[in-house]
Amino acid sequence: MQTQVEEKITKKGRKSFRKKGLDGKKANKHKDFKKKSKKLTDFDKYYYYLKSVQSPETDVEFLRDVYIELKGTRGKTLREDFCGTFKILCEWVKLHKEYQGFGVDLDEEPTEYGKRNYLSQLKEEQQKKIKIINENVLNSGLPQADIIAGMNFSYFIFKTREVMKQYFTNCLKDLKKNGILVLDCFGGSACMSPNEEETVHKDKGFSYFWDQDSYDNITNHVQFHIHFKRKGEKKRKKVFSYDWRMWSIPELRDILEEVGFKKSHVYWEGTDKDGEGDGNFKRTEVSNEDCEAWVAYIVAEK
Ligand SMILES: C[S@@+](CC[C@H](N)C(=O)[O-])C[C@H]1O[C@@H](n2cnc3c(N)ncnc32)[C@H](O)[C@@H]1O
Repeated sequence: MQTQVEEKITKKGRKSFRKKGLDGKKANKHKDFKKKSKKLTDFDKYYYYLKSVQSPETDVEFLRDVYIELKGTRGKTLREDFCGTFKILCEWVKLHKEYQGFGVDLDEEPTEYGKRNYLSQLKEEQQKKIKIINENVLNSGLPQADIIAGMNFSYFIFKTREVMKQYFTNCLKDLKKNGILVLDCFGGSACMSPNEEETVHKDKGFSYFWDQDSYDNITNHVQFHIHFKRKGEKKRKKVFSYDWRMWSIPELRDILEEVGFKKSHVYWEGTDKDGEGDGNFKRTEVSNEDCEAWVAYIVAEK
């Protein structure tokens, strides 16, 4: 069973934030919601965020597989930077008994939520493999890892080359021998103009809105917001807001090379028969595609 999702405003090509290609792994989520909805007295913004923009189960499979593809062995330690509710780490430690992880986030609100709602659901031995650090990812001396992942475009918060360089330099230092840095990234012409897109989650009784409020053509600075509307309720505006710079793939790869990463690769998403992203990311050097909105991964090798 696929999650029932309807696009109110449909565009050709792929959209920002991975909402497609999530495959059958979302199958249990309807059941999951029924269970949870009984308990929902307040508005749980992280629950709606998870259902709308995250796909932790598929993210960890990508992280596992890309390390194996590039290094021929398992990368065991994952550091999730900007980890928020660290759902990715919680899925990571489920994948293999030797996997462990560190989560880094400045803000205790999402990390406390993650401890209450996700960490607590893991087996005791899995819980012990996760450590959360409430610090700035720009700090030096953060834990070493085989894989450092910056997901959901969180590093777009760094608006200057200088700060991005500092972040990548620290990551390079903190990666173990043979380590990789994995960054997701998005773009396309549809992201470069103000527009709002509603995704109706019929089976879950809510709508998710991705609001591209402003885009500055000179600085590439953007203001994006996420709104939600539960059935029968008023729209809750600006539940999450992002003040970002849109970085291009070549700009990011240039900085990665400049700070000393040996190589970087781009994993570009395949296309299904309707011209949408199919959730399969393959290493490539040219896209050869006219895409209004795309999501890709950059993977840099130490
Ligand atoms: C867009 S959320 C991403 C959450 C999660 N990674 C995900 O996949 O959805 C960005 C997170 O980055 C955190 N953050 C922003 N700047 C940071 C910094 N300099 N150091 C550490 N965390 C930071 C915020 O507190 C927030 O939880």
